[in-house]
Amino acid sequence: MRNKLNIGLFGFGIVGTGLYEVLNKSKLLEASISRIVVKDPTKKRSIGTELFSFDKNDILNDASINVVVELINDSEAAFEIVKQALKSGKHVVSANKKMIAEHFEELIQLAKENNVSILYEAAVGGSIPIIRNLEEYYNNDSLSSVQGIVNGTTNYILTQSNFGVSYQDALKKATELGFAEIDPTLDVDGFDSKFKLVLLIKHAFGLIVEPKNVFNYGIRNIKPQDVKYAGEKGYRIKLFSRAEKLNDDVVGFVAPHFVKNDHFAYQVDNEFNAVVVEALFSDKQLFIGKGAGSYPTASAVLSDISALQFDYQYEYRKTTDNNVSELEDDFFLKVYVGSEFIESINEIPFFRIDEVYQGGDYNYQIGWVRFNDIKSFNLNDLLDLSLIVLPEPFVASNQTEKLKRERIQYLSELEN
Ligand code: HSE
Repeated sequence: MRNKLNIGLFGFGIVGTGLYEVLNKSKLLEASISRIVVKDPTKKRSIGTELFSFDKNDILNDASINVVVELINDSEAAFEIVKQALKSGKHVVSANKKMIAEHFEELIQLAKENNVSILYEAAVGGSIPIIRNLEEYYNNDSLSSVQGIVNGTTNYILTQSNFGVSYQDALKKATELGFAEIDPTLDVDGFDSKFKLVLLIKHAFGLIVEPKNVFNYGIRNIKPQDVKYAGEKGYRIKLFSRAEKLNDDVVGFVAPHFVKNDHFAYQVDNEFNAVVVEALFSDKQLFIGKGAGSYPTASAVLSDISALQFDYQYEYRKTTDNNVSELEDDFFLKVYVGSEFIESINEIPFFRIDEVYQGGDYNYQIGWVRFNDIKSFNLNDLLDLSLIVLPEPFVASNQTEKLKRERIQYLSELEN
């Protein structure tokens, strides 16, 4: 049987407005918005004022409202609202990746204690139904990796850079189009991608990791010379959130990657997001869709609301008691490091250098680095340096013999 849903909506920005419109267009749902709480009483709204209120208790204390949809920007205010809603026995739908990633355990616990749902499909990948798929579909298949582009703003900027559009102009446009966060540093420095990765890791591998322990490096430092290098080598640059099994551990981080034209993400452009899930029997599967913007994000919120009609809740079945909630940081990856300044490149402790280019104006080195070493740098703030991950698979720390052997072979080939 379907539940009749009486919605209290927090926030009437890009996604809130989109939700209002898609909900009105959707005939199949037995759901209606009975109150909208917003912060700014002076802001002009696109609809009549009857539904609006400025006091959160007008929703939270209203017993007739059984669903709270939280679409505000301030993650701490959102947390207080969501906490109170769950405690009052109201279901919650949220798109707030930061709030969920930072308070994951507590939110799951609160929902459980109060026998209500908290759903957040819109928080990762916009319109892409990735959370529910990870949660439901892959339960019996052994997942080995989840990776992809989960930030529309950075993908928009990177795509535009291929056409010579400057970073600043592309960011401005992404903001105008409603993709960027109010504080776009969250986008361009990879924080937004990291919050989303934390959610993916929980639903893919059952682990709750704290955002502060997950490495995020964004796209702010990428220079036209790096884009040129990518073009010459047949690569494109994409900001990836990735988590994968490496032996018995899970590794995960956010960083720019070079992808070749045979890679799933190569042609995923502008605000489109893409997630690839790799599992033992199904092999690779690609999910693609708009990752930001009003209607695409609202469509995922709508889907969660619709699921609540049938009492849907995440069961977190991959979570077991002995889950180690930490990612493994001791492994090796192949990277490109570019800079105008050779001294800056020399700061990076390479385990093995495979290629050195010194071009006067711009220089780069390619080689293997230990992830732990890279993690200790605040790369986002090293503006004169860009580090981009190459497609080679990671090497576990107990398998470095192979790296060393290949290095010796490489050197002897050079000599002959
Ligand atoms: N700023 C985010 C993005 C919005 O660009 O993907 C959607 O989460």
